[in-house]
Amino acid sequence: MTANFTVSTASVSSSASSSASPSALPDDLIPGRMPAHVAVIMDGNGRWAKQRGLPRIMGHRKGVDTLKKLLRCCRDWGIDALTAYAFSTENWGRPTREVDFLMTLFERVLRQELKEMMEEGVRIQFVGDLEALPKTLQREIDRAVIETKDNRGIRFSVATNYGGRQEILQACQAIATQVQQGQLQPADIDESLFSRHLYTSDISDPDLLIRTSGEMRISNFLLWQLAYSEFYITDTLWPDFDTDEFHQAMKAFQMRDRRFGKVDDSEKP
Ligand code: FPP
Repeated sequence: MTANFTVSTASVSSSASSSASPSALPDDLIPGRMPAHVAVIMDGNGRWAKQRGLPRIMGHRKGVDTLKKLLRCCRDWGIDALTAYAFSTENWGRPTREVDFLMTLFERVLRQELKEMMEEGVRIQFVGDLEALPKTLQREIDRAVIETKDNRGIRFSVATNYGGRQEILQACQAIATQVQQGQLQPADIDESLFSRHLYTSDISDPDLLIRTSGEMRISNFLLWQLAYSEFYITDTLWPDFDTDEFHQAMKAFQMRDRRFGKVDDSEKP
């Protein structure tokens, strides 16, 4: 059976990676100010392909290479977690041929990359309503998640058939059921309890969201978890998003003043 991952440990926002590896970092990045968790909306695959007179699916194929490079770079730079938006609950509305291609692509990538993920200590997990995915894909997901679960390297979460509103609704339903059964009082429902009912219960909230292709939208991604994330939006299309551009994103992130709704110490009376 395919599980939706709701293992419970507190979901708290942290601002610095615990395992920054200064030797691999470019000189102009400060190890103590790296994000612990980066989330990406990988947008622009279709446009990238169209610009080259190629079918859209070629953009997705190239997008996988970009994602692999980014995962490796995050690992080398000591970032603890990367979450990628691979397929939204709304993406089912795309042409059947494209949806089928994406499902097959996910399956093939999982099969082909598992050995390398083991060698590199990647711990993969999936967030979303996985029951609706093709059974063959569910089996590959189960295999990859189980085999990599004891790895201690970067945590790589793939949002697949994921929708932020749907995630919040299923959390509400689970909590309401517990209240109905008398296991929980309404007054017990706080942010920490609610976070533990989300797919991302065992990952800290993203410190940084990157969106490619210049769109200024969240597109139903991690609606709860992005409350205090910094945003980096670039016009670059996802297949062209490379290490240099990620470096720029890191520099921009390190310039941000994260106050989490409070004021700077210097502004306090
Ligand atoms: C958005 O570009 C991209 C997607 C919906 C698919 C992204 C998926 C991958 C890169 C594969 C990841 C694979 C694994 C196993 C994690 P778009 O098609 O919306 O581009 P457009 O806006 O230019 O049309």
